[in-house]
Amino acid sequence: MSRSHRVAGVGAAILIGALGLTACGANDAQTGGDDDAGDGGGESKVIALLLPESKTTRYEAFDKPLFEDKVAELCDDCEVVYYNADQDEAKQTQQVDTAISEGASVIVLDPVNGAGAGGMVTSAQDAGATVIAYDRFIAEADYYMSFDNETVGKMQAEALVEAMGDEGGILMLNGSPDDPNAAQFKAGAHSVLDGSGVEILEEYDNPDWSPENAQKFVTDQLSKYDTSDIQGVYAANDGQAGGVVAALTGGGFSPDDLPPITGQDAEVAAIQRILAGQQAMTIYKPIPIEAETAAELAVKLANGEDVGTSTDSGVEQTDYEGVPSYIFDPIVVTADNVADTVIADGFYSAEDICTGEYVEACEAAGIS
Ligand code: GAL
Repeated sequence: MSRSHRVAGVGAAILIGALGLTACGANDAQTGGDDDAGDGGGESKVIALLLPESKTTRYEAFDKPLFEDKVAELCDDCEVVYYNADQDEAKQTQQVDTAISEGASVIVLDPVNGAGAGGMVTSAQDAGATVIAYDRFIAEADYYMSFDNETVGKMQAEALVEAMGDEGGILMLNGSPDDPNAAQFKAGAHSVLDGSGVEILEEYDNPDWSPENAQKFVTDQLSKYDTSDIQGVYAANDGQAGGVVAALTGGGFSPDDLPPITGQDAEVAAIQRILAGQQAMTIYKPIPIEAETAAELAVKLANGEDVGTSTDSGVEQTDYEGVPSYIFDPIVVTADNVADTVIADGFYSAEDICTGEYVEACEAAGIS
């Protein structure tokens, strides 16, 4: 846990936060004047980043470093304190308290439980901090940013229906019921599947998004259904898609003859499976635009500047359920456009993807 060892007096720090003193005042008071932010004993503005879990690779591999780098680029005297909740809501509540006690004036919060995050937001706001709901909606937040999540679900389902020729049975694996995005992916997917020729054999809401639960769910279904009954799998994200592939290959499917499986997050393992013909598609959400928009907003807020109606990179502010918001577009990735999307954007290099057993698949797809 970053810097928590430096918190000498939580109660005192909360009081200082509540009085609206600067972040650095709080930190310096506790740490004897330790100044991480630069020369001359200047004050550092503390920005907290709180992410929900680490099994999904995007958070530690993209969101965190991109956010930190952008803050560092935009602000010499800002300091980012980072926390990962490991899917534990109680832990995240404590992390918000710690962030407040560390003097954070801006809290960028990707909640484990969106609907349950109101109390955390209120504590932060009462201490004088501004809260940005990052990627998952929180009704009480001051700002929100995410991708168009209902469209994600629609795109996944459309790709699946098309890959299945609009017929056959599927297993449907949604995300965590606590994650507001999961409900939106699910609604978007149902809006396509329910009117299609595809039949949902069984549906599952995976409580923690984990690959392990996904694998167990599919393994259990294989004792009820013949392999020939399962002609497709809707998996809401790539982590679960990995668990699905493990269950299917462990349960009688040949790795070369898997049914179409969906995903999301453009994890490198998913891009490899797509090239190897083991996953039909993923959703690529260009994380830089999201992380950098959050960083830009956080720095402006920490500096007490007006955030305006569009960001420096031209993203327009909109309204989402009464909260000033920034919504970005998701992109479908299949074997046909890996090169034009994740590689062209520099999200991955060909070397990241074309390793070991995937070298051949890359060559076949013209990626080198
Ligand atoms: C969602 C998020 C996805 C993914 C998922 C867990 O809330 O929108 O990008 O991170 O959680 O895989």
